[in-house]
Amino acid sequence: MIKKLIFLSSLVICIMARAQQFVNLAPTPPMGWNSWNTFQTNINEDLVKATADKLVSSGMRDAGYIYLVLDDGWMAKERDSAGFLVPDPQKFPHGMKALAAYVHSKGLKFGLYNCAGTETCAGYPGTRGYEYQDALRYAQWDIDYLKFDWCNTDGINAKEAYTTMSKALKKAGRPIVFSLCEWGSNKPWLWAQNVGQLWRTTGDITARFEGIKTMGEWHANGVMTIADMQDTLRKYAGLNHWNDPDMLEVGNGMTQAEDRSHFSLWCIMAAPLIAGNDITKMSEQTLNILTNKDAVEIDQDALGMQGYRFKKLADSVEIWVKPLNNDNWAVAFLNRSHTTVKVDYDWKKYIVNDTVHKRILNCNTHNYSLKNVWTKEDAGTTKKPLSGSIFSHDVLFLKLNY
Ligand code: GLA
Repeated sequence: MIKKLIFLSSLVICIMARAQQFVNLAPTPPMGWNSWNTFQTNINEDLVKATADKLVSSGMRDAGYIYLVLDDGWMAKERDSAGFLVPDPQKFPHGMKALAAYVHSKGLKFGLYNCAGTETCAGYPGTRGYEYQDALRYAQWDIDYLKFDWCNTDGINAKEAYTTMSKALKKAGRPIVFSLCEWGSNKPWLWAQNVGQLWRTTGDITARFEGIKTMGEWHANGVMTIADMQDTLRKYAGLNHWNDPDMLEVGNGMTQAEDRSHFSLWCIMAAPLIAGNDITKMSEQTLNILTNKDAVEIDQDALGMQGYRFKKLADSVEIWVKPLNNDNWAVAFLNRSHTTVKVDYDWKKYIVNDTVHKRILNCNTHNYSLKNVWTKEDAGTTKKPLSGSIFSHDVLFLKLNY
């Protein structure tokens, strides 16, 4: 009888421990690197190894960029005779398990991409009808992250398709971060909280500051255009379930000011920080933006509250705010205009009342000290009005310490 009880209680503990592995996979927004923005389908084993090495030697891994994710184009065009996915033998001659071992040996995690449809966006085998089989293979290969796209899905219900894949991943038994990439078409923020850890909210990003780039039927959005689409979604994000305004374009051709503004807003929005540049060749300035400690800490803040645009001032200057742990705040003054703008801002005149998260920033009742996130300078306190100039497309990014 006692033996039976001991056996039953260990079984329950085992089951609970296993279930526990699948929660808390992304307590803060996931950080890493993804191949798509720079390399599209031109990816291979050498690129993965060089990127893994550089994530370590550049300090990016230690700054938090843990996931190395291969996007579209890693597969052969056909499944094998048993229906399993096969890595492209030219691009990945040693297969994914060996590559995952290499990535893991560097203290990183490894991710792959597929699609809920019959084919991926670039025409490789999609997962439709193979959910459990593909999940099993990812688990066998020791994959830690899956980005799951939405091309070639005519007649498929998004909630059902993503839920099936989510169940398949759990069944396969390995904790895998599940990144939904259905571009916000079916409002995943309303149903994906327990399906995956992050969901894309828009179509693709492109390395331009404003506007939309059109190429035939396809279009991509500039970073500010994407930021404009996020305001109403903040109430749906939180620990382990993040709005994803797409991967970073830092280092991909915008000016340094624009890269800084892009990164500042992604941190204010508690966005996943997935670098999309060629990190093996990046400049020192690009690395400094991606690894700015204060900015990354703002993104990764333990409360996980997505920030928002609080106010538009004259001359196209916007104020974005994010409530932080320990009653601190992040505040960004963003100049979207084409000229340098002088900003005079009386902290005491405007009270920020975040009704979603029930936080108030009131500089009449408390005096905050200011740190400039990009220059790292002590920037005084909120006692005195702020006065300064912001270059075109640049940002004044401040941390307000309580
Ligand atoms: C879609 C996604 C992109 C990328 C490509 C790959 O466009 O939104 O992020 O994964 O597919 O084909």
